[in-house]
Amino acid sequence: MPKMRAMVSPGPGQPLRLEERDLPAPGAHEVRVRVQACGVCHSDAIVVEGHMPGLSYPRVPGHEVIGLVDAVGPDVEGWRVGERVGVGWFPGACGRCGHCRRGETFACEVIQGATGLTRDGGYATHMVAHASALARVPDELDAVESAPLLCAGVTTFNALRNSGARGGDVVAVHGVGGLGHLGVQFAARLGFRTVAVNRGRDKEALARSLGAHEYIDSEAQDPAAALQAMGGARAIIATVTNREAMEAVSRGLAVNGTLLVIGAVGPLTVDSMDLLQKRAAVKGWYSGTSADSEDTLSFCKLQAISSMNEVFPFEQAQAAYDRMLSGKARFRVVLRIDG
Ligand SMILES: NC(=O)c1ccc[n+]([C@@H]2O[C@H](COP(=O)([O-])OP(=O)(O)OC[C@H]3O[C@@H](n4cnc5c(N)ncnc54)[C@H](OP(=O)(O)O)[C@@H]3O)[C@@H](O)[C@H]2O)c1
Ligand SMILES: [Zn+2]
Repeated sequence: MPKMRAMVSPGPGQPLRLEERDLPAPGAHEVRVRVQACGVCHSDAIVVEGHMPGLSYPRVPGHEVIGLVDAVGPDVEGWRVGERVGVGWFPGACGRCGHCRRGETFACEVIQGATGLTRDGGYATHMVAHASALARVPDELDAVESAPLLCAGVTTFNALRNSGARGGDVVAVHGVGGLGHLGVQFAARLGFRTVAVNRGRDKEALARSLGAHEYIDSEAQDPAAALQAMGGARAIIATVTNREAMEAVSRGLAVNGTLLVIGAVGPLTVDSMDLLQKRAAVKGWYSGTSADSEDTLSFCKLQAISSMNEVFPFEQAQAAYDRMLSGKARFRVVLRIDG
């Protein structure tokens, strides 16, 4: 029986371990992907640390995958062996199934198919993906360089283009990490007056080199007041992983502004008076669909946008994950998988 290798999360809070497994056969509507690269996202902590109730283990994390179609299951249309594909985390709750109607969104049938969360992901030489989750990857884009576009990229690009902001508007990207450093590039190329917000000055020069027109050090000054001094932000793309930090920036919205909550920070408190006086909004945002991923990849090719990555061999997935969690990576960590 041919084999594959995977870095597996054995259970909440346990270190990743290398496992050899039988090569899985794709089922109906599925393809098997030979993984070439997989980004390491802060959201992988949901599985590795066990932040979500009801997850089952062992689980292979990883939802920023680029690879080649290796086998095609029954009833798959439009995909052939050898084609380049990207696989992302895949949509949030559908809003229609029985679980969603009862408010149990984490049990939603769509989320039950989420790559690296409820089905095995890309910290592996091979994975099986639902055909509807596949995005075509342009030939010009390198797998290792571009894998982060399948989550960090699509999430920030899609949030920005659906934010209601128009060319010239002030748009803040809060958090200059894996997601934020791409968010800054997208915001600048989409024509917004782009403001990067992060604690300290360490990342200022890099943020400016990626296209930020302004930089706010959220430790040295009140970030909301600094945004108000610029006229207020039409959109804030909040990618920080800290609740208080996100709350502190929320008053920086302009009239009709929208805070797009991307970072998973638990309960969030905002000032109702501030919101109602401005007709401002707070809105959650998940990444997008495979069609959104294809749009993201095309836009990156068109505008020469790329992820700045630190690359680790796949067997060192634990070190790569620890590096991501440390916040010291500049900016995304990516696993290179040589098969
Ligand atoms: N909605 C979605 O679909 C979606 C998709 C992907 C990821 N996410 C979530 O988005 C968040 C960001 O992911 P990522 O991979 O970009 O993470 P990351 O690379 O670890 O970046 C985290 C960012 O948060 C900042 N931060 C951390 N602790 C902070 C604190 N105490 N005060 C102020 N700022 C702080 C970091 O600032 P420093 O540079 O100062 O450390 C950094 O800019 C995570 O919560 C992840 O789960 C959501
Ligand atoms: Zn992610």
